[in-house]
Amino acid sequence: MTMRVAVAVSGRGSNLEALLRALVPEALARVVLVLSNRADAGALDRARDHGIAAEVLPDPADGADWLVRLERHRVDLLVLAGYLNLVPAAVIARYRDRILNVHPALLPAFGGRGMYGRRVHEAVLASGARESGATVHLVDEVYDRGAILAQTRVPVLPGDTPDTLAARVLVAEHRLLPAVVLAAATAGRPVPLPDTVESTS
Ligand code: GRF
Repeated sequence: MTMRVAVAVSGRGSNLEALLRALVPEALARVVLVLSNRADAGALDRARDHGIAAEVLPDPADGADWLVRLERHRVDLLVLAGYLNLVPAAVIARYRDRILNVHPALLPAFGGRGMYGRRVHEAVLASGARESGATVHLVDEVYDRGAILAQTRVPVLPGDTPDTLAARVLVAEHRLLPAVVLAAATAGRPVPLPDTVESTS
C-alpha cells in the first residue's frame, strides 16, 4: 500500500521540493495534498507545478476543517515542513504518532514557541555551540516537544553567520526528512532512524 502524505507549509517550500524529488513514482509514499495557512506561500506554487492538490486553510485553528481535507484525500501521514502554527488538537488526536515536523536545530535545544527560521541559527551562534543540525520529530500539542525520530549533525564553522549556518543545516534537512518519510512508508508508521553526521561542507 502506498502511504498517502499531506504536507503543511507556511513558506517557500524547499523541504517540500526535496520530499517530492525523493518520492519517485515507485516509492512507497506519495504526497497527495499540500496545506498552507498562507495563500502567498511559495510552497503552494511548487505543489501546483507538480500537479498536487494545494489548499489554503481559511482558519488554521479549525481542526474540523483540517480533518475534512485530510480525510477527503485519505491521508495516512501528515508532515510539517516549515509550517509555523500549532496543529489543532483535534488533528493531533486523530493523527497521533502519524505527524512529523522538521526543525533546523538539534532538539531539544533551540526549539519551542517563536524558535523558527533565522532566530534559531542566531541563538545557536550566540550560544557558542560547536555543532548544530536538523531534527525530525513526532508532533504533539506543544511546539517541538514530540519524540525525536532522527537527527543529522553539522559543524558550526568559524566565521559562520546565521545565513551560512542555515544553508548548511538546510542541506541536512533536505536529506533527513525524505529518509524519515520513506522509512515510515516501509514500516507502515513513523520509526526512529540512526543519527547521522554531515561532513564540513
Ligand atoms: C526549514 O528550515 C524548517 O526546518 C523550518 O522552516 C524552514 C522551512 O523552509 N521549520 P522551507 O519552506 O522548507 O524552505
